[in-house]
Amino acid sequence: MTFNPLEQRGIPLDRQLRSWRELNVEPIDPDAADPYTRCRIIAMNGIETEAIFFGHHLARNCDDVQVKQQLARTRYIEAQQQKAVNWLLPGVSSVLETTIAYEQVAVDLTAWVARMEPDPYLKQAYEFGVLEDFDHLYRYANLYEMIEHRKAESIVDGLTEVMPGRPTPLHHRNPVDNVREPYDRTSVNPLSKLHALTIMAAEQQTMNFYMNTGPTYMEPIARQLYQEIGLIEEEHVTHYESLVDPGETWWEQLVNHEYNECYLYYSFMEQESDPKVKAIWELHLNMELEHLRVACDLMRRHDGREPEEVLAPALPNVLTFEPNKAYLRELLETQMDLTTLGTGYVREAHERFEQMQERLHEGEAPPSDRVMAQHQEMFGRDYREETEGPHPVDPQR
Ligand SMILES: [Fe+2]
Ligand SMILES: [Fe+2]
Ligand SMILES: [Fe+2]
Ligand SMILES: [Fe+2]
Repeated sequence: MTFNPLEQRGIPLDRQLRSWRELNVEPIDPDAADPYTRCRIIAMNGIETEAIFFGHHLARNCDDVQVKQQLARTRYIEAQQQKAVNWLLPGVSSVLETTIAYEQVAVDLTAWVARMEPDPYLKQAYEFGVLEDFDHLYRYANLYEMIEHRKAESIVDGLTEVMPGRPTPLHHRNPVDNVREPYDRTSVNPLSKLHALTIMAAEQQTMNFYMNTGPTYMEPIARQLYQEIGLIEEEHVTHYESLVDPGETWWEQLVNHEYNECYLYYSFMEQESDPKVKAIWELHLNMELEHLRVACDLMRRHDGREPEEVLAPALPNVLTFEPNKAYLRELLETQMDLTTLGTGYVREAHERFEQMQERLHEGEAPPSDRVMAQHQEMFGRDYREETEGPHPVDPQR
């Protein structure tokens, strides 16, 4: 069945406002829930957060009060959606447990997008990035066992493997080398635009999360590890946001944002196993259809163009949370030693990379290595969850 959001009728905007009672959602049970339900919640929170911030940036660049009022109306609904979605997360989970789930989202969302991405340059960008979040998952899982005395397998539940990726200390590149070439908005497959927006939003919320939660720790190693990985998420946001063609008009970008929200709520509604959460995805889809209609009107009015010119004729295959173990192992075998130079990729460390490394590390082990050394000292081993056999390339396996 093909689903065309441009042909569907949603809930009128003046009927989208929810009361406190309606916003008071019941959180999922972290022990009973499907880990991918939690992943979908985190991914949608990132999408709604991006919708809110993009809406604010647009409003700050808009000098028509009536248009600003229209944007404010929709944005208030996005803000309510964000509350309903993120408040599905249970208060009993620790920050570190949520962190591990964030990295699981980064791994399985980016890996799926990389598998489906039709453009080879964009695909390479996702393949490059996913091996880094894969290693973050491993480092945080070791911190988790060290300070909470629990194992990350209770969170990722065998769906995502936990083992070394591209080593975290090597993620610190000169910022110049984090900027990629954008796709061409006039020729790119519309699916590629949705992929870029989705991964950018996911990485941005991870960056925000580490910025704000990192200093809530007492343990020095935890505080330091969040600083280090928080800075890598800044690099990841730079990497992914630069894939989007900056020549898209504000109104075209707004349409793309709303269309992507329709695509993701539709995708997650199709997959969701938890009926209460599924009802929220369905409700939000019906809200987004109306946001999209409003955005399309704004685009027609301000750009004098039809939204159909920039959008896919129907929704592509649903975006799916599923294990990507074999694909990730293949990437480990072939792309572990890549870094970037300018807007491309190389296998050797280069001068600008080495200078950045020397300045940051000052010849000492960074927090991501010290967490492993401390873990080794406590347990006589590292923590990993290799469900498909030994690590394909790790020399220390
Ligand atoms: Fe939304
Ligand atoms: Fe990460
Ligand atoms: Fe990341
Ligand atoms: Fe929206």
